Amino acid sequence: MIRIENLHMRYRSAQGEVDAVRGVSLQVAEGQFYTLLGPSGCGKTTTLRCVAGLEKPTSGEIGIGDHIVFSSRQAIHVPAHRRDVGMVFQSYAIWPHLNVFDNVALPLREGKKSYSGKEIEEKVRGALHLVKLGDLEKRPAPFLSGGQQQRLALARALAREPHVLLLDEPLSNLDAKLREETRLEICDLVKQLGITTLYVTHDQIEALVMSDVVAVMSMGVIVQEGPPKEIYQSPRERFVADFIGMANFIEGSVESPGEENGATGQVKTASGRLRCLLPSGSACGDSVLILVRPEDITLCHDRSTTQENVLPGRVEIVAFMGDSLDCQVMVDSQIVRMKLHPDVDLSRGQKVWLYLPPQRCRAIRR
Ligand SMILES: Nc1ncnc2c1ncn2[C@@H]1O[C@H](COP(=O)(O)OP(=O)(O)O)[C@@H](O)[C@H]1O
Ligand SMILES: [Mg+2]
Repeated sequence: MIRIENLHMRYRSAQGEVDAVRGVSLQVAEGQFYTLLGPSGCGKTTTLRCVAGLEKPTSGEIGIGDHIVFSSRQAIHVPAHRRDVGMVFQSYAIWPHLNVFDNVALPLREGKKSYSGKEIEEKVRGALHLVKLGDLEKRPAPFLSGGQQQRLALARALAREPHVLLLDEPLSNLDAKLREETRLEICDLVKQLGITTLYVTHDQIEALVMSDVVAVMSMGVIVQEGPPKEIYQSPRERFVADFIGMANFIEGSVESPGEENGATGQVKTASGRLRCLLPSGSACGDSVLILVRPEDITLCHDRSTTQENVLPGRVEIVAFMGDSLDCQVMVDSQIVRMKLHPDVDLSRGQKVWLYLPPQRCRAIRR
């Protein structure tokens, strides 16, 4: 388990002060895969480095397993080499002058805990086997491909059988296809080992695919935390919706709030009334932003008069993406993006009606 409470980290340098982390609290349950997701500079690496003991936080508390490794209140700061963590960095930081075996063995030989030669051999072989590098132990590290170097870094982090694994954008140096393969391998491996993992990435797909829990960070704080599906489908803020995937936003004001929690209500927009899910406690007149994902909008070629949530528009741009059609429709003065099946026949200038399913229209406060 990893527990972070009210973590603050202020860097001081000649250029001035930077509040990199401003009150982060989180808990990674035993065996869980937890991801910090956010744009560059939001404090992900700093948070991870504080857990690893590579930075001394300004204040807060960090626990790993049953141990408090940092507490400003209790003046505890366990040094990095005494923390039971394995870490993989964005730059794999493998040693180019050593072969595969020795890259994994070195931290075991020089670590705090002393192992016999036979123990080291067993641990190294075990870790290399896990990452499928068992056949390459004699190869000089620079002669490995990018994906293999990344797996070597992982083997090195796992060899000591740490209690928790910390991964900082470990896939960002791989090309797209290899990244996709490797992220599945990492997922399989950590699940197989049942190791508690704190993962950092700026790639929303990576976060959605790999994680049990995603925490979206912005400017040193966590803005929303939850399972991937919840983060994607029910963002509570525009920032989260915008950062994770594509989203349409339609401004409006509440006309009639839903009777109970989870019920839909009516919102008045420039293009007409829309029924949508409202935040709890909404009242008439509240300003809201309706969020609809492009893949949730469907196309109607003619207007059925009985149906609600249908907006008229004109096709502006149709882009064939291979597996989908990315379509932009002008609705009044606003562009609405839709993701359609690639076989749908549409052309620029065509008049269409869009159906926005009420359960897929989620209003957030403005
Ligand atoms: N050693 C450092 N000294 C001063 N500022 C730093 C240092 N490391 C990071 N920062 C600043 O802290 C903020 C958060 O950085 P970082 O944690 O690396 O973000 P992320 O990993 O999310 O891209 C940034 O504004 C960055 O410039
Ligand atoms: Mg970083």
